[in-house]
Amino acid sequence: MSGAILAIETSCDDSCAAVLAADGTILSNVIASQGIHDKYGGVVPEIAARHHLALLTPTIDAALKEAGLTLAEIERVAVTQGPGLIGALLVGVGQAKAIAAARHIPLVAVDHLQGHVAANFISPEPFEPPFICLIASGGHTLLARVEDHSSYTLLGETLDDAAGEAFDKGARMLGLPFPGGPALQALATEGDEEAFDFPTARNVKGLDFSFAGVKTSLLYAIADLGEAETQLRRADLAASYQRAIVEALVERLTRALDASGLGRVAIGGGVAANGPLRDAVSALGAVSHIPDRLLCTDNAAMIASAARFLPDCSPESALALDAYPSGAMR
Ligand code: KG4
Ligand code: ZN
Repeated sequence: MSGAILAIETSCDDSCAAVLAADGTILSNVIASQGIHDKYGGVVPEIAARHHLALLTPTIDAALKEAGLTLAEIERVAVTQGPGLIGALLVGVGQAKAIAAARHIPLVAVDHLQGHVAANFISPEPFEPPFICLIASGGHTLLARVEDHSSYTLLGETLDDAAGEAFDKGARMLGLPFPGGPALQALATEGDEEAFDFPTARNVKGLDFSFAGVKTSLLYAIADLGEAETQLRRADLAASYQRAIVEALVERLTRALDASGLGRVAIGGGVAANGPLRDAVSALGAVSHIPDRLLCTDNAAMIASAARFLPDCSPESALALDAYPSGAMR
């Protein structure tokens, strides 16, 4: 009995498959990036779904090979059920159902955001609840109170754009490739983060976020500067823009942490790969857990990690499992 879990994640544009051992150790974590969305300036849902059809089977094969296991040695199969792009999700759900049915093994349905939280439970250094968790990705930005391994309580979320979306849109305005977060972070290293006073949505009370204002401010700053001056000040714009987003995230995280009295904090989601954010969270003075960058951006190891603590679908419900898109009520 290997106890190994095979997990599949296809909620956006990365085809991901991973194998996790029963104790939460990663045996493989394969990510096939489609790399074709840059020319459109963002992910095109229909194209993403088609590419998953081509990439997913070889990605699963690669994950099994790297883990040194065959499909016959897998004991459970986990899949991201939502939220995400519906066409993309359906490719993963269909594949997982087929494997579960053919191998007579249980199927586990995983929420993508629970997956980002569960990246913190991966061995060899699993972070134990309770803690406050900031999840910031391309589609979501939220604060959660995590009391156990299988759920969380939502404390606050973005009222408009996600933090990753703000990075991507800002990067696009500065002529940087998609996804914009890593490119904007790189450009920002050459700039002055105090050069522009971009807003951090201080007027939004409580634990909710808003990134519409900072995005509009960048747009106006670029318009005011004009094309030639914008070119000269690109790094300053990127550094100041990044500072405003990171400050807004850390400000709410600090509020949530102080109100909770837990003194324990973790992060997840693609934006958690951001260097200045990681540094700021480490410097909070709380006991912090910052997953490896590869476990912050979309991957299937985090889906397998969440599945370790979730129940199997009943055999009757497994074949009827459906995906749910972004914005859907679960
Ligand atoms: O979690 P993720 O891989 O996919 C979603 O679930 O959305 O997050 C992707 C987002 C993108 O918006 C990307 O620009 C952002 O994470 N991101 C970053 C960095 N790396 C990825 N944002 C800021 N700094 C980074 N280093
Ligand atoms: Zn994600």
